[in-house]
Amino acid sequence: MCGIVGYIGEADATPILMEGLRSLEYRGYDSAGVAVFNNGAAAVVRRKGKLSALQEALDAGSPRGRVGIGHTRWATHGKPSEANAHPHSDCTGRVAVVHNGIIENFHELREQLTAEGHTFTSETDTETIAHLVEKHFTGDLLEAVAAALGEVEGSFATVVLSEDQPDRMIAARKDSPLIIGLGRGENLVASDIPAVLKHTRDILVMENGEIAEITKDGVALRTIDGVPVDRDVLKVTWDASAAEKAGYEDFMLKEIYEQPDAIRETLRGRIGADGAVELDELALATEQVRALNRVYIVACGTSYHAGLVGKQVIEAWARLPVDLDVASEFRYRNPIIDEETLVVAITQSGETADTLAGVREAQHLGGKVMAITNVVGSSVTREADGVIYTHAGPEIGVAATKTFVAQIAAVYILALYLAEERGFMDAADARAVKAQLMELPAIVEEVLNLDEQVKEVAANYVDEKDSLFLGRGMGMPIAFEGALKLKEISYIHAEGYAAGEMKHGPIALIDDGTPIVVVATKSHVYDKVISNIQEVIARDGDVVAVATEGDADIARHARFVFYVPETSELLSAIPAVVPLQLFAYHLAKMRGCNVDQPRNLAKSVTVE
Ligand code: G6P
Repeated sequence: MCGIVGYIGEADATPILMEGLRSLEYRGYDSAGVAVFNNGAAAVVRRKGKLSALQEALDAGSPRGRVGIGHTRWATHGKPSEANAHPHSDCTGRVAVVHNGIIENFHELREQLTAEGHTFTSETDTETIAHLVEKHFTGDLLEAVAAALGEVEGSFATVVLSEDQPDRMIAARKDSPLIIGLGRGENLVASDIPAVLKHTRDILVMENGEIAEITKDGVALRTIDGVPVDRDVLKVTWDASAAEKAGYEDFMLKEIYEQPDAIRETLRGRIGADGAVELDELALATEQVRALNRVYIVACGTSYHAGLVGKQVIEAWARLPVDLDVASEFRYRNPIIDEETLVVAITQSGETADTLAGVREAQHLGGKVMAITNVVGSSVTREADGVIYTHAGPEIGVAATKTFVAQIAAVYILALYLAEERGFMDAADARAVKAQLMELPAIVEEVLNLDEQVKEVAANYVDEKDSLFLGRGMGMPIAFEGALKLKEISYIHAEGYAAGEMKHGPIALIDDGTPIVVVATKSHVYDKVISNIQEVIARDGDVVAVATEGDADIARHARFVFYVPETSELLSAIPAVVPLQLFAYHLAKMRGCNVDQPRNLAKSVTVE
């Protein structure tokens, strides 16, 4: 977690650092700070709270200089406070460090350094890096940082400056992301590409165990152990404006509206002119696909819900049994994986620590790992055996929306591919499914027309404390996702439940007026869902349904209905989730919540 940015060049560093941090605030926002060097002397400004608090402090007096580092924090060690905000310094105040990750042996290091006479001023693990650099500095900052990191166990993306060599930044990474932006007469370093896009589209993606010496005129990359590294430059083709709000009130709303494109782009090029699914990325020969005996999906959060959709669709089309686990459970379960298991890691960011650990565990056990991710060059793309990209564009809102539907689109493609390679789908069925898939972007465009109606309905529930989301079949993961969206951004307690399980517990929660959102699109279990709605009504629950256009009957049961166009049952996940995203969005806005940056959450969870 946490966002890092560094600048070295000819321009005033502070506004550039702040601009970079603004695009990284999704990574954490409980405190922030900058260190800017001027004539070799460091000025550090840090504040508890969001970047706006830091900006206020800078407005009252901004340090000027041509080299600096900045950080926006999501606390792991030490509560959010000004003292724990980055950058951190050594005893002399000559070293400045920003860090993302967790130093696992920081207690031992701190004890040892304290015994050697170092004085700590924060509760963070990061501060140990500053003191280690001070300890190892004998005239060369690069060597001092390399030696310091040699003592560190755990994960880090870190950038270090020193008053002793103020014409360079040292950046290093292990298990936390870091990229270098190559400019003209200036260079930048950051946790994520949007932070440097206003300056350059030429990117060096740092790999685990690498360290870079960055001056305004160049970058020298090597391993921390000292082996020089030659890395190809990645040219970023997407537009910086894609990372801006483009006139929408919030990133989340913009991203909800970008969903037709996210699906379109993810499907693009996957179905060839001859109608065959093209998935060369799977890196498995047909015989290997035929030999598969199982699929295991590993993911967290919203990506896990895409996995629940994947389980149903892969089992239905490819007739392969699918297991599914949240990554934090999978990694410690000693899961049953062998060479005939295809492990699918679904992760929007490609950086979720638990999912990455799951990937490593699966590979260790002999499984082939396919990643579904949205971020080019992210850690999972380098670790997995194959990657299916969801081309949804950068997602800034912490609550995932467009990447969720893109993940589902990718899962459909994977399921179709497995079904065809294994010979489990006849040509006519496959053609029909593909045609329906290609209609999904237009269908979602239609569903977005519900926005005003959803807003009006949401107005009835602004003061609710509890809610229940129910669904069966494809409606179940969508109910889970609808509940997750609502609780994440509006702080209304929301439980997502398999509708048939309601009578085993949640039914006790229903009383006069409790909002019960039911996914009741046409399916082979539609009648069962209607029975569940009856059970809710009998207990005075207040039903809001998502139903299929033309289903006049449901209006007799539900107080409000959001009608979505008909699709085949297995494809209904995508149209059904859109009204629930809008429902959560409008309720959160009406309750005055910050939908893009909900409290306590972060977009990319790079710690376990
Ligand atoms: C965080 C985000 C969620 C996301 C989850 C998994 O909790 O707030 O929106 O679903 O991480 O992230 P991933 O990048 O692995 O999909």
